Amino acid sequence: MKAITYKTSGASDVMALTDRPVPTPGEGEVRVAVRVSGVNPTDWKARQGGTPHGEQVPNQDGSGVIDAVGPGVPEARIGERVWLWEAAWGRADGTAQEYVTLPARQAVALPGHASFDLGASLGIPALTAHRTLTVADGGPSRLAPGALAGRTVLVAGGAGAVGNAAIQLARWAGATVITTVSGPAKGELAKAAGAQHVVDYRAQDAAAEIRRIAPGGVDIVVEVAPAANAALDEAVTAPDAVVAFYADDSASFSVPARPSMFANLRWQGVLVYTVPAAAKDDAVAAVSAAVADGAIRVGESAGLPLHRFPLPRTAEAHDAVQQAVVGKVLIDVAG
Ligand SMILES: NC(=O)c1ccc[n+]([C@@H]2O[C@H](COP(=O)([O-])OP(=O)(O)OC[C@H]3O[C@@H](n4cnc5c(N)ncnc54)[C@H](OP(=O)(O)O)[C@@H]3O)[C@@H](O)[C@H]2O)c1
Repeated sequence: MKAITYKTSGASDVMALTDRPVPTPGEGEVRVAVRVSGVNPTDWKARQGGTPHGEQVPNQDGSGVIDAVGPGVPEARIGERVWLWEAAWGRADGTAQEYVTLPARQAVALPGHASFDLGASLGIPALTAHRTLTVADGGPSRLAPGALAGRTVLVAGGAGAVGNAAIQLARWAGATVITTVSGPAKGELAKAAGAQHVVDYRAQDAAAEIRRIAPGGVDIVVEVAPAANAALDEAVTAPDAVVAFYADDSASFSVPARPSMFANLRWQGVLVYTVPAAAKDDAVAAVSAAVADGAIRVGESAGLPLHRFPLPRTAEAHDAVQQAVVGKVLIDVAG
């Protein structure tokens, strides 16, 4: 079978197309014939600065069809369409290969109406978004229709991949969603994702505009740029709010101490790989339910334009993500 592999970290040219034997699923594992591999910033960051696990196959996310199961996994799962999460976390076997074996719980049923493109776009962005939307004091711990009714969510950077997933999940859960963007084109994408209010943080006074939309303040901030936005977030949050930050635009950032203290404002870090196991289970279940409801979509009409590459051009796919292409980068592993 064909696989993209690398043995040393570095620029995208460390990756090469290789031939490998088709793997056999072990105890508790499934083997998936991969259709689409999804690329996220974590994939090029791991390739560039991480330590490969021997001959490393990149990419955490993907979708495909289970074609074999190991001992302990019901044979009824053979033939199941699935989406994959965290395939390469702590492992050598990511999704940029024709067949991947991985623990059965990391291959989640994908309903017939959901495309393989959608399946390959869920893992990192949607599970991260779910965590940011559920870490507030008092929950909810698992999103569902109505779970965020009455809450106002601010999504920083609503045209980003995680931002897009956060908007769609928050709307599905009944929240009012405000988002910030850097310009009109990204504003259109954020609206297509479902944001009711879009604030251009370059052209507008973002704090004043968000306060005008939500005079009582926002309850949850899904934050991609905590260093740039800490003061803004403090200025627009309601008492007992949470700022859930999932990226590091700077090695450290400072928060306004006294106002944060007086408002019981929570500054909450989120890393998808290390969220507590129960929270990960809740996220996988909720994202699956949202997919089943048709509430998460991909493509331009959902605010997430797709950019496709064939497997041999995986290096270009990584470079596109590193250069912050707007939308979702997908690799066609099999037709
Ligand atoms: N912690 C985790 O578990 C986790 C999970 C997934 C991703 N991440 C990290 O999160 C980051 C984003 O990932 P992604 O896949 O969503 O990337 P992406 O699709 O490239 O989106 C990044 C977005 O950040 C926005 N942004 C940058 N500066 C901003 C600011 N000052 N205010 C508001 N928005 C701002 C950009 O929008 P504008 O141009 O409109 O500003 C852009 O749309 C990456 O660093 C990634 O490694 C972390």
